[in-house]
Amino acid sequence: MTDLSDVIEGVYLLTVLFFILGLQRMSSPSTARSGIVAAGVAMLIATVVTFLTPGLSNLVWIAAGIAIGGALGFVAAKRVAMTDMPQMVAIYNGMGGGAAAGIAVVELLIGPRFSTTGGLSVAGGLIGAVSFSGSVIAFLKLQGWMRQRPLTYPLQQPTNLIVLGAAIVLGALTVAYSGAFLLPFFLLALGFGLLMTLPIGGADMPVVISLYNALTGIAVAMDGFALGNYAMVVAGTLVGAAGSLLTLVMARAMNRSISNVLFSAFGATEETGVAVQGTMKPIEPDDVAMMLAYAQKVIIAPGYGMAVAQAQHKVKELMDQLEARGVTVKFGIHPVAGRMPGHMNVLLAESGVPYDRLFDREEVNPEFPTADVVLVIGANDVVNPAARRAGSPLQGMPILDVDLAKNVVILKRGQGKGFAGVENELFYKENARILYGDAQETVGKVIQALKQIKD
Ligand code: TAP
Repeated sequence: MTDLSDVIEGVYLLTVLFFILGLQRMSSPSTARSGIVAAGVAMLIATVVTFLTPGLSNLVWIAAGIAIGGALGFVAAKRVAMTDMPQMVAIYNGMGGGAAAGIAVVELLIGPRFSTTGGLSVAGGLIGAVSFSGSVIAFLKLQGWMRQRPLTYPLQQPTNLIVLGAAIVLGALTVAYSGAFLLPFFLLALGFGLLMTLPIGGADMPVVISLYNALTGIAVAMDGFALGNYAMVVAGTLVGAAGSLLTLVMARAMNRSISNVLFSAFGATEETGVAVQGTMKPIEPDDVAMMLAYAQKVIIAPGYGMAVAQAQHKVKELMDQLEARGVTVKFGIHPVAGRMPGHMNVLLAESGVPYDRLFDREEVNPEFPTADVVLVIGANDVVNPAARRAGSPLQGMPILDVDLAKNVVILKRGQGKGFAGVENELFYKENARILYGDAQETVGKVIQALKQIKD
């Protein structure tokens, strides 16, 4: 081993510590930003130090790839709207899976194929390719470039199983016999990722993206083993473990199993809930302001619509106004409100709402019966009481019990349903009123009306 290799190994060890520190800091909203910076700096150092590898060739190609990829990533990340974040994560994750598969191809072409290393490369290649093509489908569905509803057909799961089995056999043949099996192996692996994702609906995509993220991590770790690069092994394992846990947390928050998310084609049929009796009763901003001004406790339950309306800054202003009047304001955050984990926390933190006003589902649920007013801002599925009823598509999903409050005001634009497509009984309840309009505008009108009300 040369001295330079020792230096590289030492720096890799340092970056690994930064990756772990970064991940640990991401566990709380208050330290998450510094965690991301720590992990990003570690990745930069690991990339730069890799250029010192003795005998490294094609430097211009590598530098050009980094420059083009880095520039595209930077511009896309700067421009992306918060609501489009899930598909951006999907495509970036897909690129990671594709890169892992690419490394495996090169290893299988030029490395020792007939060995354990070859086996690891086949496994990394298979998983990376599945993650790549699956993530591309996830991106297309979320971007609206493909129909979001699950695409189903007869014998779908057996077909998928056969494709996966054939890919594994071809991978084994690649290692045992000949490189001639390499191309069909990768084509089938890519095909499996595609086929596996088609029957999954748009609403479940965040869970699937997280699963593919975990798979990308595992593929990178396998490549790391094959290449003897332990920075890749540790970074890949961290991503694999974190992604797997996140997938489980999300599925649990929807009271669904991973196999239900992957194989049940949830959302393939139109709404299957019961027809709801009654009417949705509208309310004007002035009346909402009056209710809020004389309330003692107000709980705000935000959802995807707040992100669509970009209403978080107005919501913070409303919180300030109410607190100045002596009203207690709390936020009830459902773990899958919005379209990605932590979606609401990120938006509210961006607008300056202090973390100590944010309460998760278990903490806030006992408080709803004592709340004078609950403002449901662009949330639907996560506050749908149908989840308590057997036979509903949402059955068993833990919800925010907003319907138990004295008054519930729901801010929404029209008759739109939630992501699950299930009619919401809450909107028709006696204690519920609908404030129609884009949430940014309606919250703004409530703030104006509130300013006119004397203490
Ligand atoms: P949704 O159920 O999607 O409901 C969003 C509501 O916002 C709709 O009622 C819509 O009604 C309203 N809305 C949309 N744009 C608006 C605007 N500009 N102003 C005011 N209102 C607006 O949202 P949710 O309650 O947050 O539930 C999230 C869903 O995503 C759940 O089904 C969950 O399972 C799923 N999901 C989330 C995740 C994560 S990690 N967050 C992961 C997987 C699945 P109008 O159209 O009438 O305005």
